[in-house]
Amino acid sequence: MVSKYIIDGGNKLSGKVKISGNKNSILPCLAACLLTSEEVTIKNVPRIADVGVFLEILQNLGASVEVGDHTVKVRCKEVKKPLITEEFAGKLRASILLAGALLGRTGRAEFFHPGGDIIGRRGIDLHLEGFKSLGLKVNVNDHRYKVLKKAENNPSCKIFLEMPTVTGTENLILASALGEGCVVIKNAACEPHVVDLCKMLNLMGAKIEGVGTSAIKINGVEKLKGTEFSIGSDYIELGTYAVAAAITGGSVEIGNCCNFDHDPAVWPLIKMGLIVKTDGDSVSVSAKKIKAIPRLVTNVWPGFPTDLMSIMIVLATQARGMSLMHDWVYESRMFFVDKLIAMGANITIADPHRVLIYGPSKLYGRNLESPDIRAGMALVLAALIASGKSIINRAELIERGYEDVVEKLASLGASIERVD
Ligand code: EPU
Repeated sequence: MVSKYIIDGGNKLSGKVKISGNKNSILPCLAACLLTSEEVTIKNVPRIADVGVFLEILQNLGASVEVGDHTVKVRCKEVKKPLITEEFAGKLRASILLAGALLGRTGRAEFFHPGGDIIGRRGIDLHLEGFKSLGLKVNVNDHRYKVLKKAENNPSCKIFLEMPTVTGTENLILASALGEGCVVIKNAACEPHVVDLCKMLNLMGAKIEGVGTSAIKINGVEKLKGTEFSIGSDYIELGTYAVAAAITGGSVEIGNCCNFDHDPAVWPLIKMGLIVKTDGDSVSVSAKKIKAIPRLVTNVWPGFPTDLMSIMIVLATQARGMSLMHDWVYESRMFFVDKLIAMGANITIADPHRVLIYGPSKLYGRNLESPDIRAGMALVLAALIASGKSIINRAELIERGYEDVVEKLASLGASIERVD
C-alpha cells in the first residue's frame, strides 16, 4: 500500500515513548525457526512490514505461524520446497538468511539475489564463499542460486570473513548449527542481532561459543528443539527518538531499551551535546545546545552503526559549526541529503561516502519522497522542525523498519498524519 505522511513542523516533542524489538534481530531469529520441527515462540517482536513479509515467506516454505501482541509462534514440521521465489527474495535483503536455514534443515536451497533498500552494492559473495567452505556446492545462474550439500555431513572448517558481514555471519551460523562438523568463523560480525541469533540457537540446543566476539565456534548438533526467546530492542530506534527530542528542543523518555548495549548508538549523541540519562530500561534525552562533531565515521560493532548515519546528519543540520560524516559501508546512503538541501540545509557532498554539514540551518517544509527506511525517517525528523507543511511520500518504506511511526510521534506532540 502506498502512503504518505503529512507533517506540520515546529512542535516540541515531550513525553514517553517505547521503542520496539530490533528489526535486524527478529529476521534471523525467524529464519532460525526453520531449523527445528518444534514450536518456537519469539517475544518483543516489532510490528513492522518486513516481519509480515518474512512470515509470509516462512508460511510459503511450510511453516505455521501464529501472531499475537508483539509475539510470534512459528512451527515448521516440514519444509515443503527449499525455494525462495524471486518475488519474495526481491522484497527484502534478509530473505538471504533463509538460504542458511534451509541448508541447515534440508541440505539444499534455491534462491534469488536478495532485494531490499537501494543504498549501495549489496553483494552476497562472502555468503557464497562461506557456503563453499562448509562443503556445499554453489551453482550460480545470473541472479539465481542453487546450493546443495555434497556429503552427508558438514566438514569441520575455518572461515575467515574478508569483512565482518552481518547477514553473512548469520547465514553461516544458520547453515552450520546442525551437523557433525566444527565451524570457526573469524572476523565475524558482533552486532546485537548476531548475538540474539546465537543466544536463541543455544536455547534451541545449538553449541555456539564466542557469542558477541569476532571468533565464533559452532559445534554442529544432531537436532534442535523449540524454545521461547525475547529479542533485544532496537538501538537505531533509540537513536532516532533521541535525535527527535533534541532537534525539536523537547525532552523524551525512551522506554523498553532492554537487552542491548546502548553505548555505540549513544556516544556520538553525547558528543554532540545531548543530555542522555539512563535509568534501568529507560533513556531520557534532551538538549540545551547541539554541537557539531568534527568527524563521525561508521564502524563495525561496537563502532557507530551505519543505520544511524542519516539520522545523525539531520542532527548536524541543527548543530553550531561544521560536521563531517563518513559512511564507508554503502556508496548511496548519503545521496538523500539533496532533499535536506532542498529544505534549506547547508550540506556539501564531498564524495559518495562523505558529507560536510554546516549548521545550524533553518529548514522549510517540502514535498519529498522517502528513498529507504533510514533516509525516510531522517526526512520525517527534518520535517518535524521545518517551518510549514511537509509531505513525505512512499512512507510505507519507513514502516518496513519502524513500528507505529505516526502513533509514536503524535503521542509525543508532533503534528503528523498518515494518508493511504
Ligand atoms: N558485502 C559484500 N559481500 C557480502 C556481504 C556484504 O560485498 O557477501 C558488503 C555489502 O555490499 C555492504 C557491506 O558489505 O556494502 C555491509 O554488508 P553487511 O553484510 O554487513 O550488511 P547486510 O547484511 O546487507 C545488515 C543490516 C543492514 C545494516 C548492515 C550493516 C540486516 C537485515 N540488515 O545488512 O540494515 O546496514 O547489516 O550493519 O541485518 C537497515 O536496517 O536499514 C539496514 C540496511
